[in-house]
Amino acid sequence: MGAYDLVILGGGPAGYNAAERAAKKGMSVCLLEKNELGGVCLTEGCVPSKTLLNSAKVYNYVCHSENYGVEVSDKGGVSQQAVIDRKNKVVKRLVTGVKAKLKAAGVTVIKAEGYISEKTEEGFIVTADDEKLTAKNILIATGSSAVIPNIKGLREGLDAGFVLTNRECLNLTEIPEKFVIIGGGVIGLEMADYYATVGSKVTVIEMADKIAGNLDSGVTEILQKALSKKGIEFLTSAEVTEITDGGVLYRTADGTGEVAADKVLLSIGRRANTQNIGLENIGVELCRGSIVTNDKLQTNVSGAYAAGDVNGKVMLAHTAYREGEVAVNVMAGDADVMNYSAIPSVIYTSPEVASVGETADTAAKKGINAKSIKISLMYSGRYIAENTDYTGVCRLVADADKNTLIGAQIIGSYASEYIVAVASLIDLEVDIERVKKLVFPHPTVAEVIREAVFEI
Ligand code: NAI
Repeated sequence: MGAYDLVILGGGPAGYNAAERAAKKGMSVCLLEKNELGGVCLTEGCVPSKTLLNSAKVYNYVCHSENYGVEVSDKGGVSQQAVIDRKNKVVKRLVTGVKAKLKAAGVTVIKAEGYISEKTEEGFIVTADDEKLTAKNILIATGSSAVIPNIKGLREGLDAGFVLTNRECLNLTEIPEKFVIIGGGVIGLEMADYYATVGSKVTVIEMADKIAGNLDSGVTEILQKALSKKGIEFLTSAEVTEITDGGVLYRTADGTGEVAADKVLLSIGRRANTQNIGLENIGVELCRGSIVTNDKLQTNVSGAYAAGDVNGKVMLAHTAYREGEVAVNVMAGDADVMNYSAIPSVIYTSPEVASVGETADTAAKKGINAKSIKISLMYSGRYIAENTDYTGVCRLVADADKNTLIGAQIIGSYASEYIVAVASLIDLEVDIERVKKLVFPHPTVAEVIREAVFEI
């Protein structure tokens, strides 16, 4: 029976990062992962989808090369098999990297499903297949799975491979002619962009009255227009009622309709993986299926922590990394808390959308005395130099009383890379007068932040 300072259930971003950090702090750490290390992020989420989207971006450049003075006589096409092969290589390389890091840090990794059987005086008892482990602390980092709603024909569609989740969608070796996507959130929009660019006729069916959740509505409008230009059709305020053999039935306020499909992607959100891991044996509190944690990632059970999607707070890999670190620091007795107010999020479509903190609307709803400014990305010389469509914008939201930034929403090239500048300023609560003294490299698209703070 192995005895550890920390046993971690789940080797995704929350788990593997926490394992490395804890080991480097001198804790004895055992990480249990039933599949590949890297979790959804590395194996069937963030990284594979970005690999596909980059292929789409390259193809898009080829298709519109004349806009940049480059003549390509035969525009060719996309080999989906080659795209998937490349994606698999990228994933393998990263998974190998995670394994190497954990080995170097001295983490014991066991490929097994962890199950918490009890809490005793010696600590938590966790079984990993046939092996029994004891742990002073446990970190539950079991992630999330796609929500499968109760829609007529859906189960059959999934079993037949007609309906896909994010996992299968990133492994299709043929481009479907007609691709229907249920859910116009992050996964739905990224996959819509990819498949539309490489040749599918894509229809997105979204239940809400707009796509992209509670993003700034001006930004959503620009995004929807840009994606519509690629041929993607959007049906909003539409409820899916049935999956048939060759299509999707839906209902709107105006009546019912059907969209024919060769494949259907189901992307209507994710739910925490809290089943069959023994949480009930130690009395871990759940709320709407997710583990309840405080800002130190502690659960209601002393010594049991939960980080990443499983706590249902912000289902993003980068949140998971930081949550794992906070949990480890708290276990080690080092003061640390999670700040959820400055977590950037990105939709990796072309154009990219990046946001952080409050929108003008959410700030108003919270009663914050907010001011905001929206400027065109055309303030950036690099943006104009590198684009032919100039619809990109940057909105900054500030707290007028504190004179600090509290939010940003940006649509346009590189937004994902420089949103962290605003996130840092929000997290550090830097006075806007001080922000004005920062020097940005020129020419970069990030310079719009500098322009905008002078206007706000
Ligand atoms: P989501 O929560 O982003 O979007 C789901 C969408 O489906 C919502 O717009 C919702 O209104 C709609 N919906 C719900 N039920 C529906 C129904 N029955 N019919 C039609 N529409 C329906 O969830 P998504 O896209 O599945 O992503 C899951 C998680 O993965 C999210 O937490 C997301 O943040 C994360 N993720 C993040 C990425 C990134 O950071 N770039 C990329 C991919 C996923």
